[in-house]
Amino acid sequence: MKIGIIGGSGLDDPNILDNPTDLELDTPYGPPNSTLRQGKIAGKSVVLLARHGRAHTATPSHVNYRANIHALRAVGCAAILSTTAVGSLRQEIGRGDLVILDQFIDFTKRRVATFHDRFEPHNPAHTPMADPFSEPLRELLISACRKFGYRHHDKGTVVTIEGPRFSTRAESNMFRILGADVINMSVATECALAVEAGVPYAAVAMSTDYDCWKTDEPPVNWEEIVTIFKENAEKVTNVLVDVIKEM
Ligand code: ADE
Repeated sequence: MKIGIIGGSGLDDPNILDNPTDLELDTPYGPPNSTLRQGKIAGKSVVLLARHGRAHTATPSHVNYRANIHALRAVGCAAILSTTAVGSLRQEIGRGDLVILDQFIDFTKRRVATFHDRFEPHNPAHTPMADPFSEPLRELLISACRKFGYRHHDKGTVVTIEGPRFSTRAESNMFRILGADVINMSVATECALAVEAGVPYAAVAMSTDYDCWKTDEPPVNWEEIVTIFKENAEKVTNVLVDVIKEM
């Protein structure tokens, strides 16, 4: 079984594959954002893709989400594990905590979040999306977090915003009222496409900041996200490697 990993901010270029080789692939949606880096983890075939490109040049709005998911499926990935930095919208989700997402709210504004540009005659395709993250993959991620004793949350609703700007305080407070637990700029789009493509998908989110809803600390900035993610990136890679061993 081949497993796809999409590395987000802070994990654009992780060095976790044995015998890596880079494959360039085109798709009907254009090229994916990075080469497909193929290799082995614990003897299993793994394909690594950098969501924003290896030099982090694609903005969240311009990531070619369709090409990325299409490419991973095209090379035979039967599951996708994704990583993402998120802002926390809850006091109890602290910096460095891992969140195994179970729901998303899509607040993006100008992205193509479907493979269906047109329907076949008399065959509309409306994909069920009630529980978009794969439960078996989530369970593997949760048990890896438990095994390592990492502070983590078994569930979490992510709101995905368009970006690249951060939210206003009013928006941040609104997302809290709406029931979102964490915030990012990529996962809803990517997850919805994976569900449409029929590839089981789960995401391990790393909480890096408290966005801007808190009044007792300064609002989030990008440098903070990178610092916290780098300090805690090993947790994410350990969890991924353990999950792949168990798959
Ligand atoms: N990614 C990490 N922290 C974030 C935040 N506060 N808002 C949006 N995306 C993020």
